[in-house]
Amino acid sequence: MKFGVIGAGQMGGGIAQVAAQSGFTVVVQDVKQEFLARGQTVMEKSLTKLHEKGRLEGTPAEVMGRIQFTTSLQDMAECDLVVEAIVENEAVKADLFRQLGQIVKPGGILASNTSSIPITSLATASGRPERFIGMHFMNPVPLMQLVEVIRGHQTSDETARIVTETAQQMGKTPLPCNDFPGFVSNRILMPMLNEAIQCVMEGVAEPEAIDGIMKLGMNHPMGPLTLADFIGLDTCLAIMEVLHRGLGDDKYRPSPLLRKMVQAGQLGRKSGQGFYTY
Ligand code: CAA
Ligand code: NAD
Repeated sequence: MKFGVIGAGQMGGGIAQVAAQSGFTVVVQDVKQEFLARGQTVMEKSLTKLHEKGRLEGTPAEVMGRIQFTTSLQDMAECDLVVEAIVENEAVKADLFRQLGQIVKPGGILASNTSSIPITSLATASGRPERFIGMHFMNPVPLMQLVEVIRGHQTSDETARIVTETAQQMGKTPLPCNDFPGFVSNRILMPMLNEAIQCVMEGVAEPEAIDGIMKLGMNHPMGPLTLADFIGLDTCLAIMEVLHRGLGDDKYRPSPLLRKMVQAGQLGRKSGQGFYTY
């Protein structure tokens, strides 16, 4: 299996790493060399950590040796499966899939790691809707068990089977879901994070208290504000916009504080400032 990944950010980097850990040959593309270099550093750190704990087959160098880094989309041509993990923006993703539909060999499967954007629209843009699917990994990819597998309107049974088996080969548990805004994961998770942000805005409690209440009271591994910072506030806002637009109900309206923080460039952990300072 030759595995392609578009985007070397926190998700693309994690997906590429786990694919290489599973023995696949991997090509990772991003728009700038510096983004590839940053992704590479994160992967090396993660692999070293896993190696120290005896949770890695082979050495970090062996795993990294299976990954090729490139800024050219043409290098995806021979991939059997390409997973896209770029910015959560429908127009940008559709434009990329239009190109990938032309570049990747005819039998190749295209998948999106989108958190919320309709799989069926992206499938249409790709020009190969039967060989298109949502393959939604969770953050941090090396540690999280789930892959949500989202079938678009025209996804073939064979495509769903191959992607499900690939997720299993990557040591993950794939679970199926249909194409509705935010799928299952973010339709349920994101309104909770948005409500926590609304609690900050309304002065219900300080961020530390909100997180502590949800961690200690509900046994969540991270409080909702820590998790929102970890996901990226820009991504959280983009997901809430899709839910609000797609499901209509006012309960999905993004918190004005979330919107303001994104406008201010406070994107959470990746920008150094969100509900907490990093
Ligand atoms: N690779 C390798 N090791 C990693 C790592 C990575 N990417 N990230 C963290 N670790 C290591 C840490 O360094 C730490 O190592 P040590 O024990 O040696 O210190 C170890 O894993 C455990 O980490 P922590 O002690 O910091 O914390 P933890 O026990 O709470 O586990 C966690 C970390 C698994 C991330 C846990 O906090 C958790 O489950 N958080 C919630 C994550 C979550 O909800 N993810 C889904 C987000 S939503 C999504 O992904 C979908 C979307 O579309 C937005
Ligand atoms: P990120 O900002 O960390 O990384 C995105 C990467 O994509 C960057 O390196 C950027 O340079 C690159 N990129 C942007 N446009 C590109 C293009 N046209 N071609 C190639 N590369 C391009 O974002 P992320 O958190 O990794 O999220 C990526 C995707 O995964 C989004 O769709 C997001 O909704 C989804 N997702 C995110 C999480 C999360 O917790 N952050 C979880 C699951 C899914």
